[in-house]
Parts: sequence; C-alpha cells; structure tokens
Amino acid sequence: MSEVRFDGRVAVVTGAGGGLGRAYALLLASRGAKVVVNDLGGSFDGVGADTRAAQIVVDEIKAAGGEAVPSYDSVADPESAEKIIQTAVDAFGKVDILINNAGILRDKSLLKMSLEDYRLVMSVHMDGTFFCTKAAFPIMRENNYGRIVSTASGTGVYGNFGQANYGAAKMGIVGFMGCVKQEGAKYNILANIVVPQAGTRMTATVMPPNVVEKLKPDYVAPIVAWLASEQCNVTGQLYMAGAGYFSRSAIVEGPGVFLDPDKDISIEAVMEKLPQIQSLEGGREYSSVTEQTMYVLSNLKLDE
Ligand code: NAI
Repeated sequence: MSEVRFDGRVAVVTGAGGGLGRAYALLLASRGAKVVVNDLGGSFDGVGADTRAAQIVVDEIKAAGGEAVPSYDSVADPESAEKIIQTAVDAFGKVDILINNAGILRDKSLLKMSLEDYRLVMSVHMDGTFFCTKAAFPIMRENNYGRIVSTASGTGVYGNFGQANYGAAKMGIVGFMGCVKQEGAKYNILANIVVPQAGTRMTATVMPPNVVEKLKPDYVAPIVAWLASEQCNVTGQLYMAGAGYFSRSAIVEGPGVFLDPDKDISIEAVMEKLPQIQSLEGGREYSSVTEQTMYVLSNLKLDE
C-alpha cells in the first residue's frame, strides 16, 4: 500500500498542545501537512490559558523538519474560533483539514453539577466544534475539498456516571456532524467522528497510572489521519479507537412493526408487539432522516 501523504494540505488541529491533539498534529506534519497547532493551554477542567502548550508542539514539528504555526485562541467563542481558522489562511492560504479535538472535563453527578459546569463543557466541546466548523466550511466549499474529523466519546455513545454535561455535548457533536455530512457532500467535504480512548491528562483523572501509560494517543492517530486524508471515502461515520482497537460504531434501527393506523392503536396493542419493536434483528443504519422517514411512510395508504 502506498504511503499516505498530506503534502500541500493545510490542517487545523484544535487542542493540539497535548494528549491526542498533539499526536494528530505530529503525525499529519510528519506526512507533509502544514499544521495550525491550536491550544488555549488551560487546565483539564478549563481554567486559565498558556501559550506554551501550542508553542511546544510547533517547536517539536519544526525540529522534525515539518511546518506548523501556533494558535492560542479558544474554540469556545465564535470570534476566536474564526481567528483559529484565519491563522491557517494567513499562514498557509487555506484549510483542508479540521480536527475538532479541544476538550475539557467538569465531572460531577447530575445533582451536584452547577450550571457553570454544564455550560463550560457544552461551550468547549459542542459550541467549539460548531464555531470552528462553521468558520472552516466556506473555505473548504470554495476549494471543493474538506476533511472534518470531530471528537465524540464513549460517554456520549453509551453513557457514564458523573458526565451528563460531557455526554450531552459529545453526542450533540454526532448529531451536528450528521448534518454537516449532508451539507458538505456535494463539495467533497467529508465529516466523520472519532471516539478515542487514550491515556492523557484528561483520563489520568479516571484511569489508573499503569493504564494511562499504556494507552498511547499514537494508537488513535492513524485512523484520525485516514479520516483526514484524500484516501478517506466515508462520511458521517463514527470510529472507536484506542489501545490498538479499531471499530466502527453506528446508530442502528430495527425493522420494527407497522400497526394499522386505521384501527385503534392502543397502549396494549403497542405492548403486545414489544418483542418486535425492541428487536434489532434485521436492523439497519439510515444515511439521512429523509431515508428513515421514507421507510416509515412506506406503510401509509395516502389518499389520492
Ligand atoms: P487533553 O486535556 O490532553 O487535551 C485537550 C486539549 O484541549 C488540551 O491541550 C487543552 O488545553 C485544549 N483545550 C481545552 N479547552 C480549549 C479551548 N477552549 N480552546 C482550545 N483548546 C482547548 O485531553 P485528551 O484526552 O487529549 O482529549 C482530546 C479530545 O478527545 C477531547 O475532546 C476529549 O473529550 C476527547 N476524548 C478523549 C478520551 C480519552 O480517552 N483521552 C476519551 C473520549 C474522548
């Protein structure tokens, strides 16, 4: 298989001053991409700012012979997100790849979670992904080329105690990308999702040190790089990656049942059919809500 290259491509990686984002930035740059290393440089729970985080990674890339510029702006504000994308345009003339990766945690049980904990997590993950994507999208559309990789989480997909804010934001990103996928399709803009598992300062709060040590961000970076590459031929998909494990995950809908709308559809009639309603056997993914709606409506007898 020929080597995947990013020569001539410009990538913006948010939250690339450490952890997973750093691994993505280093890998893309090592394969020829010009990279904007964005990082606000705050703490894992979103306090403070420090330009050193992004600068150190830029220095690493340059020391290895690559091209990179730093960006210290926050993703969580529309004007500063625009500045992140503008940094790519000013330094390298365009943006081909956007990796929405910046993130923080404010874990608390629902009863103890303050509004600020909720809003801050929503604003970095959900708003940040929205703002950066919205700023990059017109440039990608103009160039008829774009690769957007956004970051969800097992918490969004499957749920986790004490992460209601984070789970909501992460699954919100999945819904958002499902729409960007539709809007980008005719401009060769692909929008996919990674669900990583890696030992970083973020997971050091919940994983034992020997696991953190073993779960290298480098094990996640290759699939993110594929999703960011010219070779990528999928959109709207979600990939799990960590510890050498790679798998696609999806929302699957069972075939269900069609009760006769002309008859009384009672609670009991629904309950009687629960085994069929609940079964995922013969289930499928839908590529759009239109497709799913067509299936639902296929059973309707419409008046001429
Ligand atoms: P990390 O804390 O090492 O990296 C996140 C980076 O984002 C930090 O360098 C931080 O300074 C930066 N950042 C935070 N707020 C920012 C803002 N407003 N603007 C710009 N940069 C900002 O954590 P990690 O683990 O590398 O996380 C990367 C992404 O992967 C996050 O979105 C996280 O939620 C997600 N994730 C990570 C998992 C893991 O196992 N490490 C699991 C599931 C999801």
